[in-house]
Amino acid sequence: MSEELFIPTSSDKTEKYRSLIPQIEGLVMDEPDLIANLANVASALKYGMGFFWVGFYLVKSDELVLGPFQGPIACTRIKKGKGVCGTAWEKGEPILVPDVEQFPGHIACSSDSRSEIVLPAFKDGQVHLILDVDSDKLNDFDETDRQYLLKVMGLIESRL
Ligand code: SME
Repeated sequence: MSEELFIPTSSDKTEKYRSLIPQIEGLVMDEPDLIANLANVASALKYGMGFFWVGFYLVKSDELVLGPFQGPIACTRIKKGKGVCGTAWEKGEPILVPDVEQFPGHIACSSDSRSEIVLPAFKDGQVHLILDVDSDKLNDFDETDRQYLLKVMGLIESRL
């Protein structure tokens, strides 16, 4: 595996994802350790896509616990059903939040966060971990992000 990330210069979101996905695949396919892979995926998404905050929460008994991330420090534990992450865990589906102030119960780890997308990854039919991506701009995520981040979650799931 190359340990250098090619950072796409295109301003087009789809092109950036198309450049990054094969690189992320290369990163995770050679490495069986989950934390090592999550750490590299967080970095690849942060620097490849220019996200404000990107990180993972891992399901540990009745709560989510902060895992590898890139960006400002964040809250460490989230209960099932709480905030965007806990709701995505409870529902077992991605959640796109165009304006965090309009999401009842949103947990503000950073006051700079304005919009957010959260996706679960499954192991044996259960949510095993959550990807959370935050933006400091309103309405910064759309169906393109959902589609390509689902591919990233598929790559992570294939190594769980
Ligand atoms: N906003 C999230 C909490 C995690 S931080 O954004 C990193 C939530 O409402 O679940």
